[in-house]
Amino acid sequence: MGVAVITGAAQGLGRVTAELLARHGFDVVLTDVQPVDPVVGELRAQGLRASGMSGDISSAAFVADLAEWVAGSLGRADILVNNAGISLIQPAEETTLDQWQTVMAVNLQGPFLLCKAFGKQMLAAGAGSIVNVASIAGLGGVIHRAAYNASKHGLIGLTRTLAAEWGGRGVRANAVCPGWIKTEMDAKDMGSGAYTDDDIVNRVPMARFANPEDVAAAILFLASDGGFVNGVTLPVDGGWTGDNSWDSLRLKTRN
Ligand SMILES: NC(=O)c1ccc[n+]([C@@H]2O[C@H](COP(=O)([O-])OP(=O)(O)OC[C@H]3O[C@@H](n4cnc5c(N)ncnc54)[C@H](O)[C@@H]3O)[C@@H](O)[C@H]2O)c1
Repeated sequence: MGVAVITGAAQGLGRVTAELLARHGFDVVLTDVQPVDPVVGELRAQGLRASGMSGDISSAAFVADLAEWVAGSLGRADILVNNAGISLIQPAEETTLDQWQTVMAVNLQGPFLLCKAFGKQMLAAGAGSIVNVASIAGLGGVIHRAAYNASKHGLIGLTRTLAAEWGGRGVRANAVCPGWIKTEMDAKDMGSGAYTDDDIVNRVPMARFANPEDVAAAILFLASDGGFVNGVTLPVDGGWTGDNSWDSLRLKTRN
């Protein structure tokens, strides 16, 4: 199936995506600012092909080392999943320049550097697929998330541009836009008291959070099977972005 590089693969959605891609025959390369060896070890123990390198994706030097290491050890990347990301919940007028720059560095600069480094390998081979993990927060505003939402809107803009620029040379670029997922990121955000389970469940037509597995399945489709799908932003949100109803109306439809 080829080589798939997944960022932010030490936990959460990235970890589940790495395992799903490995189970579908990809040789997976896990990367994260946290150690990835424990997850690589678990995948290998299941007979799956996995390797990894830890580092900060916002660093141009690290991304260059990673791309060189993948080229040297595995030939090239066929798939890149830009999943690593950080959240920030803060009123816009209280968001500091440092906070803004940190969110942009991880959520937008990192994916740009990775698309550039692995995109070159893909363009040279005339084939490849990039999946960027944006958010429904990249499709509309969400209060108290100016930096995060701007970074995800930017990531969607990058995805569409690469799809247009590289599609004719065999390299596709698409984005998934998950709704709220039960991961460590959500636990941390919810721990700050910013929202409750009910806030999310009441807003979603399908009346639940996303599972990492829901989103990983969409990533797998865009990465491997979606041969003529290019430049799309696929919401995986249980109907959230398609629903303009007010909450009490939606709740009347529940059993
Ligand atoms: N959890 C949600 O509700 C939700 C909703 C929509 C979109 N998303 C997006 O999904 C992606 C995965 O989120 P998650 O919920 O699994 O979060 P998570 O916090 O559980 O995992 C994110 C991973 O990214 C890694 N990471 C952070 N900064 C990094 C850096 N500079 N370099 C390399 N790795 C870094 C973290 O160490 C962590 O392992 C993110 O891009 C997030 O914005 C999450």
